[in-house]
Amino acid sequence: MTDIAVFGGKPIFDKPLNWFDIWPPVTQNGEKALLDLYRSRQWSAFFPHERVFAEQFARHHQSKHGVFMANGTVTLQCALKALDVGPGDEVIVPALTWCATATAVHYLGATPVFVDIDAESLCLDPALVEAAITPRTRAIIPVHLYGAMADMPALLAIARRHDLRIVEDCAHMHGGLLDGRSAGSMGDVGSFSFQHSKTMASAEGGICITNDDAIAERIFRLSHIGYGPNQQQGAATEAPPPGMVCYPFRATAFQALILQDQLTTLNDRLVRYGQAVEYLEERLSRTTAVRFQKRAANTDRQGYFGWAMIFDHPDYRAISMPRIKEALVAEGVTVLPTWGPVYDYILFNLPRELYRIPAPCDVAHGVSPRMLWLIHPYLGLAAEEIEKIAEAIERVCGQIHRLVG
Ligand SMILES: Cc1ncc(COP(=O)(O)O)c(C=O)c1O
Repeated sequence: MTDIAVFGGKPIFDKPLNWFDIWPPVTQNGEKALLDLYRSRQWSAFFPHERVFAEQFARHHQSKHGVFMANGTVTLQCALKALDVGPGDEVIVPALTWCATATAVHYLGATPVFVDIDAESLCLDPALVEAAITPRTRAIIPVHLYGAMADMPALLAIARRHDLRIVEDCAHMHGGLLDGRSAGSMGDVGSFSFQHSKTMASAEGGICITNDDAIAERIFRLSHIGYGPNQQQGAATEAPPPGMVCYPFRATAFQALILQDQLTTLNDRLVRYGQAVEYLEERLSRTTAVRFQKRAANTDRQGYFGWAMIFDHPDYRAISMPRIKEALVAEGVTVLPTWGPVYDYILFNLPRELYRIPAPCDVAHGVSPRMLWLIHPYLGLAAEEIEKIAEAIERVCGQIHRLVG
């Protein structure tokens, strides 16, 4: 038996995987579009580029309207505000997500209410949602996390029964299809992020999509200083509705053109990611005791922000996760830990009295420290590289007991 790299053996990868070297995609079409845009001086919302992209993205996701914005946090804020969420209201969010899902609720003066995740999908557990509903509950934000979609049929049924609104946080789920329905098109509003690490990336950026004309108009005004969708910048002809305070949360034409280029290859990329995940999971389920985030059976096309591995098998429980991570990284497989339950995350700085945890979130607490994930650009690597990733994980798992202590 040769030593694993952390004990001095030769690493599987000569050069560690580094997603910054391969992501975001750089193409000839993108280069030309950006140069032409630069020369045209049509960089902002005085011109049509942002709207054209927003329409294309919305159409791709089975939605009538898209409002392109500065990031995937203000998209959540504007979506909630457009649905009239405000002070005194409660919004149910999953215990495991990026902190923005919850802070967006707080920005509106409402209370985030944390509900546990499902142990397999790692998304909001619908079976626990109803018990967290109070007369103050206004909305639910399911998050389609890493590489699985939330149980939307169950959550939509709960929302209907209790007259609640749904904002889908799709920051991780560009292009996902569940039961033939696109991520972001099932709830009242879908919110996406285009931050540098995401499956479509323009450094920063976000979009809200919806099929509701009135909600779309409100979101547009909220993020465009109050202008209505048909008003020319600099020539406002009517005020936003009374009391609706609006901000400039716009993105730029440069981002729009980068994303337009990426949208043309999104589906092909997701197919490649899916093939890599299928190969890795089929092989590693036979050769290791690692388990994987489970995709819903009714998934027609899976989006991937990342591929999540969970090391909670009894054989692995005595091994510290920092040691497992260290061993994988030593082989060149650059895995990342997850954030843990939002309310324990270092950047979530909300005073305790401003959020609710109606029941202990045991699954989020149990799973998140035992999880490591691989960011999506690696899933697009050539078959030989995917093979090496599998080999590295097998190698580390094969000697995992040497990592004790
Ligand atoms: C689940 C989730 N929601 C929302 C966001 C916020 O997106 P942004 O960083 O574009 O504000 C992120 C970003 O990482 C996220 O992961």
